[in-house]
Amino acid sequence: MKTSEDKFKITYKGKEIELPVYQGTQGPDVVDIARLYKETGLFTYDPGYRSTASCKSDITYIDGNAGILQYRGYPIDQLAKNGNFMETCYLLLQGELPTKAQYDEFEIDIMKHSMLHEQLIKFYSGFRRDAHPMAILVGVFGALSSFYHTDLDIDDPISRNQSTVRMLAKMPTIAAMAYRYSLGRTFVTPKGDMSYAGNFLRMCFANPMMPYEQDEVLTRAMDRIFILHADHEQNASTSTVRLASSSGANPYACVAAGVVSLWGPAHGGANEAALNMLKEIGTVDRIPHYIERAKNKEDSFRLMGFGHRVYKNYDPRAKVMQETAHEVLKHKGIDDPLLDVAIELERVALEDDYFVQRKLYPNVDFYSGITLRAMGFPSSMFTVMFAIARTVGWVSHWREGITEPDQSIGRPRQIYMGPTERDYTPMSERG
Ligand code: SDX
Repeated sequence: MKTSEDKFKITYKGKEIELPVYQGTQGPDVVDIARLYKETGLFTYDPGYRSTASCKSDITYIDGNAGILQYRGYPIDQLAKNGNFMETCYLLLQGELPTKAQYDEFEIDIMKHSMLHEQLIKFYSGFRRDAHPMAILVGVFGALSSFYHTDLDIDDPISRNQSTVRMLAKMPTIAAMAYRYSLGRTFVTPKGDMSYAGNFLRMCFANPMMPYEQDEVLTRAMDRIFILHADHEQNASTSTVRLASSSGANPYACVAAGVVSLWGPAHGGANEAALNMLKEIGTVDRIPHYIERAKNKEDSFRLMGFGHRVYKNYDPRAKVMQETAHEVLKHKGIDDPLLDVAIELERVALEDDYFVQRKLYPNVDFYSGITLRAMGFPSSMFTVMFAIARTVGWVSHWREGITEPDQSIGRPRQIYMGPTERDYTPMSERG
């Protein structure tokens, strides 16, 4: 980090202090407040961390005002249109696009570790058949730390690489098995000669009684959806993984914590919530009523798949997602009325002052549900697929955080608003 020539000065209770300002390679400068409490007795107050940079990172850059998203400097639309998810995983983990030899070695390594331990598979039978697949993902993925004791030494680079490969390799298998379990169908094991996305679709939809024919258009769409969801800077689930790993917790447990945070409807659960919202709206003529509900502060209804903490412009992923929705629906010969509702809802909202003034645009979750439904998935699986894709982002940030020389346990403070000191009274005197 470069130190800016500009200083940040504040005067508090007659005392002036000067704090250093650092510059990254792009994006806002940051003021280093490490000395603030010691020199002024002040904490900063920033619930939701709207103005707080929690760490240094080389991985992903977002410019929310310009609608820019880059993985290691490469624009997301270029990666989504020209590359594939395994290549993106290598890029996020290693910092550079792989050579052909590096790519082949990486892909084979991932495939070799995509099977599950037979004892781990027994975990599924303990769940109800109607268990939400995200609940199964949290439980089964978290249990990986009880199977791979050699991976748990986070200070050993070999151990870190082993757990990295196992987490990327096993997440889609765990996810596909959660889907098959909910249907009461046999599990389908991964095949070493299929792509990451193709294997996932086959593990979900293959009928063991029949030959499986891979659909190239759907496989390409799945791969692209994985690329779009792979990483996104310090979002809630990635920050959860970083905070969990700052205590030295093992990587499987840290990524399971990321799955938990992603599940919320304000975050990765928004794709499931967005489709449910479109189903509730149902037809284009009901859009004005729901737009008014979304604007009404007394009403908890929100336009799911709309708005973003960082993007105050169109989410670049949403554009690619919308194109993919059209592509998949056309390929499947589906004329989904919910797509018409989504397109009209977007048009009406983007012309409405309430959304324009607040810079609320469709985000990555707005069109993904329509696409995934057309591919044959139930809405309960939508966030599971987000988790499959985001595993590489969580793991990349986990690796970056624990190898940071000045890494220390994340421990925020607070502004205390509770009772001041008072004496204990015996229960007999409490009336
Ligand atoms: C993801 O962080 C990431 O990078 C996440 C993600 C990733 O890849 O990891 O991009 C993935 O989580 C995308 C976001 C998915 N969530 C949703 O689609 C849920 C619906 N969106 C909202 O809940 C909301 O927009 C958030 C949670 C996404 C962002 O909330 P913020 O930044 O806290 O924004 P805010 O609540 O301060 O909103 C500012 C104003 C408020 O109104 P005022 O108080 O100014 O009058 O905009 C309003 C909000 O009420 N608003 C909405 C709205 N989103 C914000 N009003 C109606 N519908 C909405 N969707």
